[in-house]
Amino acid sequence: MSWRDYWEGESAVYVSDRHKSAHYSHLADDILRIAEESANQLTSLRILDFGCGEALSADHIAARVGHLTLNDGSASVRRHLQTRFGELANVTIAAPEALVDTPDGSYDLIIVNSVLQYVDKTAAGPLIGTLRRTMRPDGRMLVADILPPHLSALTDARELLTFAARDGFLMAAVAGLVRAAMSDYAKIRAQIGLTRYSAAEFQELAASVGLSSTAMPRNIGHNPHRLAFILKHGKGTV
Ligand SMILES: C[S@@+](CC[C@H](N)C(=O)[O-])C[C@H]1O[C@@H](n2cnc3c(N)ncnc32)[C@H](O)[C@@H]1O
Repeated sequence: MSWRDYWEGESAVYVSDRHKSAHYSHLADDILRIAEESANQLTSLRILDFGCGEALSADHIAARVGHLTLNDGSASVRRHLQTRFGELANVTIAAPEALVDTPDGSYDLIIVNSVLQYVDKTAAGPLIGTLRRTMRPDGRMLVADILPPHLSALTDARELLTFAARDGFLMAAVAGLVRAAMSDYAKIRAQIGLTRYSAAEFQELAASVGLSSTAMPRNIGHNPHRLAFILKHGKGTV
């Protein structure tokens, strides 16, 4: 089984509905906070959320911005998105293949959160390069939740428990971690592994497709041990 196949099924990543909705709610707040830092007005922004997953709070984002494209590689995820958000006038649901026909410079802000760990290193450059083409000349791309080389599953588990204690799903998290250890996710993680980048390696990757990168002081979402970068057209790393 590949990661692509894995995301067609029911994922063990979320330990409960409460976890999933809290995750997407915080993520939507983070995306809006970053969108608000754009030079252009929030209500005019065109945003692409690439590898968006179920994006349960996408309606919250869509209510504040010009247009939101939800793009995910999983056909089953896209069916869920269609059911939930298909009626919203300023939301488009798309497959990665649609990027080929997307005009240059379509998006003010591109979000790639918690996706690159499931993409081979050989495919990551071409993918970021394709996304770059669809980014406006003054646009930004947030690539976040990148796994650094030495981050252990134990640290990830500890951060999940901290998040769960804060957001009221601690018991579900403990049970979920036990289930997750025996899940397909754990099996594929052991067989194929997750793609990891040091900060320098990721910034080199961004530079190789003509993007400057700035490391964010803190990742978005609940796990501060993972890495996040803002990419723009041009050269340079910070
Ligand atoms: C861990 S979820 C992240 C979802 C969301 N971005 C978030 O932060 O919660 C990973 C998502 O990336 C999607 N994905 C993985 N590889 C992809 C690829 N090469 N192209 C498009 N989507 C991909 C999967 O289908 C899955 O929905």
